[in-house]
Amino acid sequence: PLPPLTAKFRKLLDHVCIKCYDDFSPSALEDTARERIRLDLEEFIKREFQGARLSLFGSSKNGFGFKQSDLDICMTIDGIENAEDLDCIKTIEDLARLLRKHQGLRNILPITSAKVPIVKFYHGRSGLEGDISLYNTLALHNTELLASYAAIDPRVKYLCYTMKVFTKICDIGDASRGSLSSYAYTLMVLFFLQQRNPPVIPVLQEIYKDKKPEILVDGWNAYFFSQLDELRLYWPDFGKNKESVGELWLGLLRYYTEDFDFKEHVICIRRKSLLTTFKKQWTSKYIVIEDPFDLNHNLGAGLSRKMTNFIMKAFINGRRVFGTTVKDFPKEYPSKMEYF
Ligand code: GTP
Ligand code: MG
Repeated sequence: PLPPLTAKFRKLLDHVCIKCYDDFSPSALEDTARERIRLDLEEFIKREFQGARLSLFGSSKNGFGFKQSDLDICMTIDGIENAEDLDCIKTIEDLARLLRKHQGLRNILPITSAKVPIVKFYHGRSGLEGDISLYNTLALHNTELLASYAAIDPRVKYLCYTMKVFTKICDIGDASRGSLSSYAYTLMVLFFLQQRNPPVIPVLQEIYKDKKPEILVDGWNAYFFSQLDELRLYWPDFGKNKESVGELWLGLLRYYTEDFDFKEHVICIRRKSLLTTFKKQWTSKYIVIEDPFDLNHNLGAGLSRKMTNFIMKAFINGRRVFGTTVKDFPKEYPSKMEYF
């Protein structure tokens, strides 16, 4: 058990969370720069791929981007319905060959062995890394879903940024090195906010007028309630939760270290009632996070036991650090923060 927090320390916690957002979120100018890069690449690619369209997704568009976040780009071609009608590996290789001719790009690297084939690149002038995937349509939809949650309440953004900073500092936020992706941690924050009593955000996939509409994408229903200006009419808990962002941050650390039963339950943002790991037959892993649309996708599937322990320890330490009153918070971030 932790000693009670002073009012001053609570204020400090709020301040830390808001600062994570203020320090790392891109400016409007940086957002425009991303859009310009997208447009420039689209124009360039169109010369060889007629009808090519590029869309930004991921944190460039979901409301949780960092200044240095990569550019996630999805390419589609007018007249081609889905990836099955395309030789994806050949297209990625052709695309890589073409991009090598682009003056502004460096380090072009096609990766065709991955589940989602991509071509990676480095954009010199902005200093941003990026990748282009093909017909990554569900990712466009989950980007929209996350953006909608971000728009419901400012505390959503503050907490997701705090979580992202926390996971980077603790070195538990890089899926390519065996931990979890930012996307997975964002789902953890959203799930916590839905399960809070009263909830901070609703379950958008469970709100509909008469019957749940079906928007089929790659065989999955990508529907969610998106008329946010009407949300108060459809969600009885609208505006009820009054906790401060600092309280919620500590609440989140406590939730995942004291309350949530990882063995029994799935982190699942598409329904309010708890889903069991047994029902999903996902009992071999400790951290189980279901993708909101691709229900066969467990974002925790790639975690080793060692990494799982490392992540859980980071949360336990976090709960202790953020739950213990100090007079002041450090003037500087740990040096690691300089790198992202
Ligand atoms: P950053 O760390 O700021 O780049 O966050 P991000 O949300 O853009 O993460 P990332 O670049 O790793 O992933 C891009 C997007 O791919 C995510 O936002 C999701 O929309 C989508 N996505 C869908 N499934 C997965 C998955 O299993 N792993 C990851 N990493 N992304 C997924
Ligand atoms: Mg990204």
